[in-house]
Amino acid sequence: MDGNGRWGTKRGLPRSHGHNKGVIVLKNIIKLAKKLGIKVLTVYAFSTENWSRPVEEVNFLLTLFDKVLQKEIAEINKESIRLKFIGDLSPFPENLKQLICESEEMTINNKELTLNVCMNYGGRQELVKAAKELSKKSLTGEITPEDIDEKLFEAELYTKEFSDPELLIRTSGEKRISNFLLWQLAYSEIYITEVLWPEFNETEFIKAIIDYQSRNRRFGGIESISKESLNSSLYH
Ligand code: FPP
Repeated sequence: MDGNGRWGTKRGLPRSHGHNKGVIVLKNIIKLAKKLGIKVLTVYAFSTENWSRPVEEVNFLLTLFDKVLQKEIAEINKESIRLKFIGDLSPFPENLKQLICESEEMTINNKELTLNVCMNYGGRQELVKAAKELSKKSLTGEITPEDIDEKLFEAELYTKEFSDPELLIRTSGEKRISNFLLWQLAYSEIYITEVLWPEFNETEFIKAIIDYQSRNRRFGGIESISKESLNSSLYH
């Protein structure tokens, strides 16, 4: 959800205005994703690097997460949306951690759409965490180093229950992955738009999806093939 700060600054407003507007955009995109039958939507809300922002902005964001969750959780649940938080949540304030835990528990059986919110998430940190877990299992004899393959590795990721993303949308014209889902994005299609997140809307979302639909996904092969059929031909 890139470009919130710049959107505020461009209007001579504090960066926080961009974050507030960003929440409204997120709500609209979630509603449309559900309507379109998208099953998993993952948003990058706070990276491991975001702690290095001025303390006022970090505090603003933490308060915003708290306020938005309190205000929206009933509606999210009513819409049968499951909320899941991805990342190392340990450094967050106790009240926010409590809210996160309650929101996840309340919505765990919801089936329409899963909204993954990446908070204090970093792709490299996730990979290091997975390596540590496998190394511990190897030390206790639960697995041997030879057992380690992509499947075992994936089972240690926060996203273990989800398929890899089909489409990555990057707003604000940045052309980097920026430590987002490094493993999971290996074969994802990337759509970059100059539009800043607070100006992103339903039309822009549909444009991204239409662009995605025109792609020929080859997964390293020579013809368009779905990841699922690729996996089944590899593993069975
Ligand atoms: C990136 O823009 C955006 C963020 C760091 C925060 C996004 C968070 C929200 C929209 C709130 C979502 C709330 C919940 C509960 C999920 P930026 O600040 O990096 O903007 P810039 O690139 O212009 O500096």
